[in-house]
Amino acid sequence: MNLILLGAPGAGKGTQAELLTKELGIPAISTGNMLREAIHNGTETGLKAKRYMDQGLLVPDDVIMGIVGDRVAQPDCQKGFILDGVPRTVAQAEALAALGIRIDHVVSIELQDAVIEARMTGRRVCGHCGASYHLTANPPKAEGVCDDCGGALTIRPDDAPETVRKRLTVYHGQTEALKDYYAQVGKLRLIEGNQPIEMVHRAILQAIEA
Ligand code: AP5
Ligand code: MG
Repeated sequence: MNLILLGAPGAGKGTQAELLTKELGIPAISTGNMLREAIHNGTETGLKAKRYMDQGLLVPDDVIMGIVGDRVAQPDCQKGFILDGVPRTVAQAEALAALGIRIDHVVSIELQDAVIEARMTGRRVCGHCGASYHLTANPPKAEGVCDDCGGALTIRPDDAPETVRKRLTVYHGQTEALKDYYAQVGKLRLIEGNQPIEMVHRAILQAIEA
């Protein structure tokens, strides 16, 4: 099962990717998390990505496809994988196809911009493993500490309200066209994102018949 999670920033891709990984036993590949790790480690990719991410802009396609191509070639992806936040442009979708990567389902989590802007203020992420929490909708068991790995929870630098608005503009301008791209080949499944996390999860499982 090779799955793509599409959706605006804050729609719930990361949250649902974590649940699907546990349910389906296949890895989640989050380009956002991989880039944040690269920034943390001070690698060349991280240095290149940071100036785009800080502004809420997309990182160039060639940087993204380099890290994704390497990741899906790893042995743990043989039974399938969940792509969280990639592809983000039609060029990235075409590059995936050119690599011979088969996609079974594309799930788009649908949420209005106004709901997203409100949600982002409550988001906290694990600085160590990237897990996503929310102060009220999905709080950690112990305040400020990741349930999964014990890492400290932080606010993502690009969750500042003006950067969130920029990311939403970028989503509508460059990423949303992927819905048409995958609808044309009959792979697109739309999921209502404005419902409790567990209900979104069940709706996704139903849509992909897992
Ligand atoms: P990335 O990290 O992918 O960010 P994003 O797409 O902007 O999405 P988010 O991670 O912000 O949101 P999410 O949909 O994962 O929501 P979450 O589950 O956390 O990318 C960051 C940057 O990296 C980009 O701007 C770009 O610069 C670069 N980049 C990454 N990939 C790239 C690519 N392929 N090409 C080019 N550049 C790339 O949920 C959000 C909050 O809501 C959380 O607090 C969560 O707990 C809460 N929540 C989730 N579901 C619900 C629910 N149902 N009800 C209530 N609250 C909920
Ligand atoms: Mg995410």
